Amino acid sequence: MKRSKISIVGAGNVGATTAHWAAAAELGDIVLLDIPQTENMPKGKALDLFEASPIIGFDSRITGTTDYADTANSDVVVITAGIPRKPGMSRDDLLATNAKIVGSVAAEIAKVSPDAILIVVSNPLDAMVQRALAVSGFDRRRVIGQAGVLDTARYRSFIAAELDVSVEDVQAMLLGGHGDTMVPLLSCATVGGIPVTHLIKPERLAEIVQRTRDGGAEIVKLLKTGSAYYAPAAATAQMVEAIVKDKKRLIPCAVLCENEYNVGGFCVGVPVILGKNGVEKIIEIPLNADEKTEFQKSIDAVKSLVDSMSKLVG
Ligand code: LAC
Repeated sequence: MKRSKISIVGAGNVGATTAHWAAAAELGDIVLLDIPQTENMPKGKALDLFEASPIIGFDSRITGTTDYADTANSDVVVITAGIPRKPGMSRDDLLATNAKIVGSVAAEIAKVSPDAILIVVSNPLDAMVQRALAVSGFDRRRVIGQAGVLDTARYRSFIAAELDVSVEDVQAMLLGGHGDTMVPLLSCATVGGIPVTHLIKPERLAEIVQRTRDGGAEIVKLLKTGSAYYAPAAATAQMVEAIVKDKKRLIPCAVLCENEYNVGGFCVGVPVILGKNGVEKIIEIPLNADEKTEFQKSIDAVKSLVDSMSKLVG
């Protein structure tokens, strides 16, 4: 069986840690790319990770580069390039800088890997997916944002900790943008198949939902020098796995929604089936009145971000 080729653009904490999880899971051969000004940094990280392979026992060739030609004909390209948040910044404060960076990455990748599936991780996430989609010219099924897997992982971790149960038994779904308006769905959270609302009181659940929304900021505040990377990278590697192994996972991802949920042409988080063709299906589920209102707020927040981006980058 031919190994998948996975390129990761941006060899910072999220990119390098994604390479780490993906290599350890033997998802394919990995190319770690960063800008020429980083000189040999991506080469150093790639070599270091490759040298861990005999110890951990994974077969994955990992190479570092500053040249897009080395990423040619990738099956999956992960875009983590961009600047991260500093304490007090919202994801939206990164808009102007990261829109330019993600646009130029998407253009380079489209030239050398026209058939790749793009996973966008840079923030502000939903606007960056929109940008990568527009610049690459790829079908919407092949430009997918990572946010929902991370946000539901935070939600699931907090529920598991609250009940002192295994994280494996907690399932959850979430809609909307990767921002303060994200909508963790109470109606879809279960623990061992039992609705979470049977197990945790409404006031406490509301606190857990709020902590999930603030999950990224909580880490930024603690780290002071950057944003989260272990969980974002693990989430990204899970999406890579769903694609390269054609697992058809039903998980939340940011994708261009047209008529779906009446979004009308914006990239937001929705439940999808993720497999070898990228987004194979967008799943529409009935929402209650509160969920509808909250989802609409989140869509409106994404729309205004995309409007600001259009003014900045055209
Ligand atoms: C977070 C950033 C990476 O949620 O968006 O941690």
